[in-house]
Amino acid sequence: MIQTLEWTDKGVRFIDQTKLPTEEVYVTCTTHEQVADVIRNMVVRGAPAIGVAAAMGIALGVKNSKAESAGDLKRDFDAICDVIGKTRPTAVNLFWAIRRMQDKFERIRIRPIPHIKQTLIEEAQRMHAEDIAANQAMGRHGATLMPSAGGVLTHCNAGALATAGYGTALGVIRAAVEQGKKIHVYADETRPFLQGSRLTAWELMKDGIPTTVISDNMAGAMMKQGKIGAIVVGADRIAANGDVANKIGTYTVAVLAKEHNIPFYVAAPISTVDLECPDGSKIPIEQRNQKEVTHIAGKQMVPDGVDVENPAFDVTPAKYVAAIITERGIAKAPYAESLRQLATLEPVH
Ligand code: MRU
Repeated sequence: MIQTLEWTDKGVRFIDQTKLPTEEVYVTCTTHEQVADVIRNMVVRGAPAIGVAAAMGIALGVKNSKAESAGDLKRDFDAICDVIGKTRPTAVNLFWAIRRMQDKFERIRIRPIPHIKQTLIEEAQRMHAEDIAANQAMGRHGATLMPSAGGVLTHCNAGALATAGYGTALGVIRAAVEQGKKIHVYADETRPFLQGSRLTAWELMKDGIPTTVISDNMAGAMMKQGKIGAIVVGADRIAANGDVANKIGTYTVAVLAKEHNIPFYVAAPISTVDLECPDGSKIPIEQRNQKEVTHIAGKQMVPDGVDVENPAFDVTPAKYVAAIITERGIAKAPYAESLRQLATLEPVH
């Protein structure tokens, strides 16, 4: 399995996703500030991977702390969480992971400092393992929704690289293929950061899953030609009413799917469901550097001084979503009820 990120004795090790698909290189962060930078710069990206990276970054920061009293350690802990929390605003998994580490810290803060350090490292490692298990469970549930043969379109990268392993949307595809379904993946290239052509295609090729890369503006034509039997994407945050924030361009795909009568599925762990967020209009959308749009591989593609927008995500209204696949089962409309039901079930550890 691709090692997207892992805890090592030297620090947190990441595959550098900005270098894929042409170079497979790894970076090891030895401080929590470096972990914050790799999240911000998208060396690691994808909501669940960001969550696990945040937890490991916090564990690393606490491990490095020179605090000798409980009060000093708490001050360091809060400062570390603050740095990690200011990296990317949309993927709720980041804040879910910080809160989980905070809860753990609160429960053990009166224990000896070496014990606290070790416990936080173990908690981050547990989150890594749980994420893989959740993706595999999601795969088992979601595979039942995949066609027995034919094209499945995905947008961005919701694969092993976007998680601790196996993937959410690509986990569903992997599980369907493991069950013998003859799926051919259509991967939107996903401008401007090209997660589809660089990352999704790379990891599916490694697994030998037939894949065709298309530029984003080809998706409608492929649907019209009958090449797409289903669509499955990941999510960065799902509001309580089922509205889904995901990579910019997802909304366009969902609307096109409706027009062509193709089911549009979302696969995401329960940690991506934000019950405190009533609907999609309240989801903060990250605005990224204009240079991601104006330049391709370092070459300028637009005239100097022209206005450019670069929202990293959009929101797909729940009415376009045929089902939300989670590790605890499949949610269907009305999502306000089905998501609340799944999200408030006791976690299976
Ligand atoms: O900007 P990115 O690459 O972090 O965006 C990733 C996505 O939008 C994914 O679809 C989402 O995080 C789900 S990953 C399992």
